[in-house]
Amino acid sequence: MLNSFLDLIDKLEKNGSLDTEEYKELLKSYKYPKERDILAAKACEKRKAIYGDNIFIRGLIEISNICGNDCLYCGIRRSNKNVTRYKMDKSDILSCCENGYCLGIKTFVLQGGESGCFNDDVLCDIVHSIKDRFPDCAVTLSLGEKSYKSYKRLFDSGADRYLLRHETIDKTHYKKLHPENMSYENRIRSLNDLKEIGYQTGSGFMVGSPFQDLNHIAKDLKFLEDFKPQMVGIGPFIPHKDTIFAKEQPGSTDLTLFLISLLRLILPRALIPATTALASLDKDGYKKGIKAGANVIMINLAPEGFKEKYQIYDDKICVSEKLADSFENVKSIAEAENMKIAFDRGDYKFDV
Ligand code: 5AD
Repeated sequence: MLNSFLDLIDKLEKNGSLDTEEYKELLKSYKYPKERDILAAKACEKRKAIYGDNIFIRGLIEISNICGNDCLYCGIRRSNKNVTRYKMDKSDILSCCENGYCLGIKTFVLQGGESGCFNDDVLCDIVHSIKDRFPDCAVTLSLGEKSYKSYKRLFDSGADRYLLRHETIDKTHYKKLHPENMSYENRIRSLNDLKEIGYQTGSGFMVGSPFQDLNHIAKDLKFLEDFKPQMVGIGPFIPHKDTIFAKEQPGSTDLTLFLISLLRLILPRALIPATTALASLDKDGYKKGIKAGANVIMINLAPEGFKEKYQIYDDKICVSEKLADSFENVKSIAEAENMKIAFDRGDYKFDV
């Protein structure tokens, strides 16, 4: 086992590429601590060579939990009647940015359910106002599938980055996670448009989502290798009580960590977060994610009254945590790993 594992890692490091079958073979090793450690050490070495000892912080602002989609796994899906829906207004959003900026945060991530509750005019004005007030900051959007024209308008208003997980690259699997009216093709079209327009583009998937097996993950890795996103978000699936997946098992922490390390080798320059889902499932998730090769942590900037209403899965952490405490927590994680929080925008380092 160990030999073929090491051969495959060597090949990946040399060529920056493996075929899907080889990824699948590699993935079988995720259960072995020794293999995970070897991979993590290589991943941290790569991260250090490119980004040094920096951990990049992002200020997350969940601007609305209103969603027109009915993704089967998600707690804020349209058909969940137990959600109290909210929508922040521009002044709420700007005051979140202000609070984050005071802590030194220079990326604001505007995330929200996919709905028309913010039209393009309103969103462009919000993006423009943030950039106007905080010109040294980056704006990342995570607002789902939109038309080329909408993405372009938002980009022209100053948005720098866009997060849109592909969720799964296997079409049959995609259909098992999403309702009839959602289109796999439109998701991929959206990702291609974002890249073409010039966004630093993020993609990714849930680890251990219902019906997923290692074949699916191997194909997801191959897709990410080819698509070359600047950011990759992966986190364990966590069931939500108000969805039909309520009784499903959550994803594996070990597999998530193994994948973070593997992605660091596939896409050495990628900005890879230790996700909130990982930290929600494992109390040391942020730390373990960083040890595995991640280099981003998101801090929730929303005040009480909003945060607790954005439950995409059960037991999401930081819901009652004060902003200053979240920040101190990330700082101590960085210090414990001999790393430091970077106080710049933390853009993707393009190959020059
Ligand atoms: N568990 C883990 N992650 C989830 N997401 C949505 N629902 C869940 C869940 N139950 C992820 C999806 C989405 C991102 C914003 O959150 O991958 O793209």
